[in-house]
Amino acid sequence: MQKTDEKMHDAADMQPKPVKDSVVVTRDIVHPSDVNAHGIVFGGYMMSLLDKAACIAAFTHAGKKVTTVAMDGIRFFKPAKVGTILTIRASVNRVFNSSMEIGLKVMGLDQLSSEGEQLICRAYMTFVAVDAEGHALAVAPVVPETPDEIRRYNEALVRREARIALSKSLTAR
Ligand SMILES: CC(C)(COP(=O)(O)OP(=O)(O)OC[C@H]1O[C@@H](n2cnc3c(N)ncnc32)[C@H](O)[C@@H]1OP(=O)(O)O)[C@@H](O)C(=O)NCCC(=O)NCCS
Repeated sequence: MQKTDEKMHDAADMQPKPVKDSVVVTRDIVHPSDVNAHGIVFGGYMMSLLDKAACIAAFTHAGKKVTTVAMDGIRFFKPAKVGTILTIRASVNRVFNSSMEIGLKVMGLDQLSSEGEQLICRAYMTFVAVDAEGHALAVAPVVPETPDEIRRYNEALVRREARIALSKSLTAR
């Protein structure tokens, strides 16, 4: 690629993009091989589903290779049994510089219950855009439009500040 083409490509990459353009919704069904000894979904399996959905959202927004740097705020609200249909939603809450916070929500529909979809899990993941050598790269800003997106955008900054403060107050990072 010519230098001018590269610059134009970089400039296009850095244009602000709405949250809705990179929202990811994936579905999965809990199989017997996905549960722990108590017959409910294994946390590590859920984290794998979350990591994949978040990675797709982060890559779709950034348009660059991304890598997972952190997962936090993960909370399991209800157990999911074999046969539960999981709906995983991932969206970019906020872009900082090279990093992005992705918000994740998992709903579960137990086929044998009449109670409808239940909240199973929520989590936040941080992804960083990287070049071929693994060096961090700047990411285009994300534009929140709906009241929920604006709330998540504002709360993402509170979480980032808490992460940085915690990291500074601990010896091991
Ligand atoms: C991600 C990685 C490239 C960052 O490299 P680095 O030298 O630490 O880069 P920086 O210190 O410049 O930090 C880059 C960004 O990560 C963020 N970051 C670093 N540690 C973080 C943490 N614990 N939580 C959240 N964000 C963090 C920084 O705040 C910075 O964000 P910003 O640019 O938006 O301000 C590097 O740590 C890495 O390669 N990690 C391994 C990734 C991996 O293997 N993931 C698992 C498989 S996908």
